[in-house]
Amino acid sequence: MPDKWTPDGWRQRPALHLPTYADQDRLRAVEQRLGAFPPLVFAGEARQLRQSLAQVAEGNAFLLQGGDCAESFAEFAANNIRDTFRVLLQMAIVLTYGAALPVVKVGRMGGQFAKPRSSPTETIAGVTLPAYRGDMINGVEFTAEVREPDPERMVQAYNQSAATLNLLRAFAQGGYADLNKVHQWTLGFLAGSPQGERYRGLADRLSETLAFMAACGLTSEVVPQIRETSFFTSHEALLLPYEEALTRIDSTTGDWYCCSAHMLWIGERTRQVDGAHVEFLRGVGNPLGVKLGPAIPEGDLLRLCDILNPANEAGRLTLIVRMGDGIDAKLPPLIRAVQREGRKVVWACDPMHANTVMTDSGYKTRSFERILKEVRAYFAIHRAEGTHPGGVHIELTGQDVTECIGGAQAITEAGLCERYETFCDPRLNASQGLELAFLVAEALKEERDAAAAKRRTE
Ligand code: PEP
Ligand code: CO
Repeated sequence: MPDKWTPDGWRQRPALHLPTYADQDRLRAVEQRLGAFPPLVFAGEARQLRQSLAQVAEGNAFLLQGGDCAESFAEFAANNIRDTFRVLLQMAIVLTYGAALPVVKVGRMGGQFAKPRSSPTETIAGVTLPAYRGDMINGVEFTAEVREPDPERMVQAYNQSAATLNLLRAFAQGGYADLNKVHQWTLGFLAGSPQGERYRGLADRLSETLAFMAACGLTSEVVPQIRETSFFTSHEALLLPYEEALTRIDSTTGDWYCCSAHMLWIGERTRQVDGAHVEFLRGVGNPLGVKLGPAIPEGDLLRLCDILNPANEAGRLTLIVRMGDGIDAKLPPLIRAVQREGRKVVWACDPMHANTVMTDSGYKTRSFERILKEVRAYFAIHRAEGTHPGGVHIELTGQDVTECIGGAQAITEAGLCERYETFCDPRLNASQGLELAFLVAEALKEERDAAAAKRRTE
């Protein structure tokens, strides 16, 4: 029997990467206010996502998870939300059409505001201040006042998440995501670019298919899936006081759900088996993710599966692999251990977080070629192991930024400064995101063709 769980049980465990608030009374007052606010998502939606992810675990669907490394208060605007949403839609179309697999769309949006940092402090010109930990904890501006963690920021993060979710729901279900508008999702700056052209070719074929279906009577009036889509939210559940305050009992099942997002994940730096983050998340019914870096011992991974998914339910647990060059040596034994123990998981590839480098001029960047290399390696390993390469987890934006080097636009190290806008890690721009989607679609198609060929010879 699992140990008794309570929403505040994590407070007895070692908790890494949490801020220390100077004014504990102020913190408690904010927690109480948040505790009385309405949930941002409803438990039934989290269960629906879990069912969709179970399809991914069974090899019948693909997970596309992406968005900002860190959302920001300053960049909060309808256009930013819309542009990230539409590049994810475009990528999902490329994947669905290219690979003939349903795509489960999950944004790193509507709550992705807290960041683990490699150092608790930052020193600039001899001045040392607390490191920036994401807008829901402190501000990025380098002054002692702004860098001081302020609990009141959690309320602003909640409000921004609520408005973001509201718009995402409207886009997903209010007609914006209608497949008949597939051409209109192309962002202005992509038109005429190689990836934009490639997407246009695919959108033309899709439009022809829809026209054929309409001629057969299958229009969006009779098939609602043509005019609406489902879209879920997710973030790293790092700031536990906030997550605890939004954790509620679902009245239909009597189970606890963390109602700050549909899916929550545990970061590479906070996945200690006895730690606070694992303790907190094991008790909520949401689908969960765990990031796995190259140093994860096989024993820890199996313990995490035991603790976070004791009933071994497909769709409950997504293992998000972020290994960089270590992937070839490290991933196969982990896949074999999970297979040997019969664990039902979704495998996902985060090709971003082990590929971050600092340029001589001080920009944190990633090489697009290395990102693609890790994705290719990930697919090749799953092919060799006979397992489903369930999904990708990426940092991207719909804005025309220059944060990752390479891609069809050939962004150079010298060109990074042109539109480097991230608040934390460098993101793919829309063109790079589409290029990645085309590569993944090809790899999925090869997987499907190989499976079909195997069936024919059996
Ligand atoms: C992140 O997803 O932004 C992150 C910090 O990742 P990781 O925990 O894998 O380092
Ligand atoms: Co990041």
